[in-house]
Amino acid sequence: MSDYQQQYQSYFDEIERYLQGLFMGGQPYDRLQEAMRYSLLAGGKRVRPVLTLAFCEALGGQRQSALPLACALELVHTYSLIHDDLPCMDDDELRRGQPTCHTVYGEATAVLAGDALQAEAFRLMAQAPELSGEQRADAVLELARACGGDGMVAGQLMDVEQIVTNEEELRLMCGLKTGAMIQAAAVLGCVAADASGETRERARAYGRHIGLAFQIRDDMLDVTASETELGKPVGSDRSEGKHTFADMLGLEGCAAAVAEETRLAKEAVEGLDGSGFLCRLADTLADRRM
Ligand code: IPE
Ligand code: IPE
Ligand code: MG
Ligand code: MG
Ligand code: MG
Repeated sequence: MSDYQQQYQSYFDEIERYLQGLFMGGQPYDRLQEAMRYSLLAGGKRVRPVLTLAFCEALGGQRQSALPLACALELVHTYSLIHDDLPCMDDDELRRGQPTCHTVYGEATAVLAGDALQAEAFRLMAQAPELSGEQRADAVLELARACGGDGMVAGQLMDVEQIVTNEEELRLMCGLKTGAMIQAAAVLGCVAADASGETRERARAYGRHIGLAFQIRDDMLDVTASETELGKPVGSDRSEGKHTFADMLGLEGCAAAVAEETRLAKEAVEGLDGSGFLCRLADTLADRRM
């Protein structure tokens, strides 16, 4: 394993351990917690929480202090995936290599599991044991902006209602549905490390660019990858008649756009101590196959 892979794995293991300890059940409404754990622990890449821990450490903070913020993001991300897969949204039956939450637990329980994961995320942030009151408030604000009505949910609305007619609107939609949460991941690492406003802005720029690259790559993989590699259906965008980067730019155009966004992301963190990992992460995501 390379140094980069070892570092990623060590963040990943810590995130997994923390998530495993959540929602252990023992209540008459166990089925809710079971559905939440089913989707949460199904085996995602954990890109967003890894980013939070990596930014925190790159800026001289302790990863332990960032862990509740990082995992809170993963809870919101998982909620967004549960809802994204519902019949009224993308209507998909496979996620993270397993049947989607609603196909196992039914639509009502899947909606509620998503709702609960979202609220629990804010609880984790508000209680983050090693952070000050101001840091907790900053974190809550950052997450609310990223996932709310001018963030991820707005992007999802643009997507499902197909309010996209040109590349500029497609970039806006993807910046919201995917970029906002990835941006927040980077900024939350800065919050945990108590970094300056200028550093937060650099993290925000890095997140904005890799977030866009991430969704362009996602659209490419929907066309080029296999279901086994992705752990989710391929061709889903086309069957839903979605506007994607793959149909707007073509695969070559997508590859060029991913390369440019990745370059801009790396430029944003140039000169930061510990930016080596962040640059490798940007490069790795640019040609990911899953
Ligand atoms: C999938 O996100 C949804 C998008 C924003 C493209 P990921 O590709 O990070 O999914 P997991 O968390 O690894 O399953
Ligand atoms: C979803 O985008 C982004 C979210 C906010 C969940 P997609 O619909 O392209 O994600 P996948 O391809 O189903 O993972
Ligand atoms: Mg979708
Ligand atoms: Mg989808
Ligand atoms: Mg997709």
